[in-house]
Amino acid sequence: MSESPKPAPAEGKLGVLTPGMGAVATTFIAGVLAARKGYAKPTGSLTQMAHIRLGKRTDDRNPLIKDFVPLADLEDLEFGGWDPYSDDAYAAAMKAGVLEAHDVEGIGEELRAIRPMSAVFSPRWVKNLERVDQVKDEASHMAQAESLMEDIDRFRAEKEVDRLVAVWCGSTEAYEEPSDVHLDLDAFEAGLKANDERITPSQIYAYALLKMGVPFANGAPNLTVDIPALVDLADQEAIPIAGKDFKTGQTLMKTMIAPGLKARMLGVDGWFSTNILGNRDGEVLDDPESFKSKEVSKLGVLEHILQPDVYPDLYGDIYHKVRINYYPPKGDDKEGWDHIDISGWLGYPMQIKVDFLCKDSILAAPIVLDLALFMDLANRAGKSGIQEWLSFYFKSPQHASGLYPENDLFIQLTKLKNNLRHLMGEDLITHLGTEYYDEG
Ligand SMILES: NC(=O)c1ccc[n+]([C@@H]2O[C@H](COP(=O)([O-])OP(=O)(O)OC[C@H]3O[C@@H](n4cnc5c(N)ncnc54)[C@H](O)[C@@H]3O)[C@@H](O)[C@H]2O)c1
Repeated sequence: MSESPKPAPAEGKLGVLTPGMGAVATTFIAGVLAARKGYAKPTGSLTQMAHIRLGKRTDDRNPLIKDFVPLADLEDLEFGGWDPYSDDAYAAAMKAGVLEAHDVEGIGEELRAIRPMSAVFSPRWVKNLERVDQVKDEASHMAQAESLMEDIDRFRAEKEVDRLVAVWCGSTEAYEEPSDVHLDLDAFEAGLKANDERITPSQIYAYALLKMGVPFANGAPNLTVDIPALVDLADQEAIPIAGKDFKTGQTLMKTMIAPGLKARMLGVDGWFSTNILGNRDGEVLDDPESFKSKEVSKLGVLEHILQPDVYPDLYGDIYHKVRINYYPPKGDDKEGWDHIDISGWLGYPMQIKVDFLCKDSILAAPIVLDLALFMDLANRAGKSGIQEWLSFYFKSPQHASGLYPENDLFIQLTKLKNNLRHLMGEDLITHLGTEYYDEG
């Protein structure tokens, strides 16, 4: 096993930049501010609430993760970002409708002080957003990237932050397949200069951020850093990257239930997932091209967990369908239905129905926090390139070529915790358990 690189301490302030300051980003920021003031617990965040077992079960060592690895303190976070709408974080949070005004009263001043910077934006990639009021007008993609780099420098100086991380919380971009402009860094940089229309806004941000030494995690299903050119750039600059698509709501449920069915060798004949939601994300996803990005990211999950090629009798003929329906009255309160046709002993059919009345941004916000803190940790530990150990947080985890992604939530959690143990020079936990019974 490779030598574990000890992370440098988290000294000074950490700036968290979110391209996209809508429902998820503002819910994340509001939650951190509220937790700092003691108004609320950071529920849903592993970095703040989870413990990690170290050593044997009999050792009684079970510290909080945040006491075990050197993470930035919530008090030391500064927030910034970009959005094509100029609303400050308070106004954006109120428009998003996730949080009630009375819940943000005590932090209103801090939220109002957070104003997004002008965005690199194109309606070619995100439709259904109207009357945007602050979009960069530099003529080329490269000039836009340089303008973002100036923003990053200015933010760093004004907020006096020592380190930065970025988490993409922007709208889902239209579906695209990687093409030659994405395949190597030279072609990508030439494409930035030549305004190649296959380069998306999120890729321009990622390029600028990586060039500035800022780790980048992608919360949306668009490709962004999941292309060879930007993987190469991350390796070259020795910067961590991760993606894609926060694992919340229906897919979170799917990656909890499917491993259980497979563990018991129960068959799955069909899985129909549909949901209604009425927030801006839902409006963007009403556009078929953006929905296609989401659909691809959601569909892959079952295949990788159930392995139909390994278990053709149980999962070889599964019918998997995913639907998202924009329904404004629901606001951010998503309702997701799953209808699962399973089969057991002698092939007898059974059904499972799930009706999850969830709040998307409430589930996504702690993921933004954990990703920001863990990506900063990875950077201080000298980890660069794809951070597959953070698969836990993603619907469609980015991984090295030649591998399949690990989608089972419980394997992902074990992987994450073992990576933390490895980082700190602790023994990995294999759950072998023989040490408690061997007579020595
Ligand atoms: N909420 C969840 O549970 C969840 C789960 C998985 C993924 N996501 C993804 O996270 C992203 C954010 O979700 P949300 O609910 O906050 O959506 P939202 O629509 O409330 O916020 C997205 C924001 O991004 C902005 N934006 C669009 N293009 C941009 C650009 N080029 N540069 C900067 N800003 C840009 C929009 O103006 C908007 O304010 C979406 O892509 C969504 O698919 C969300």
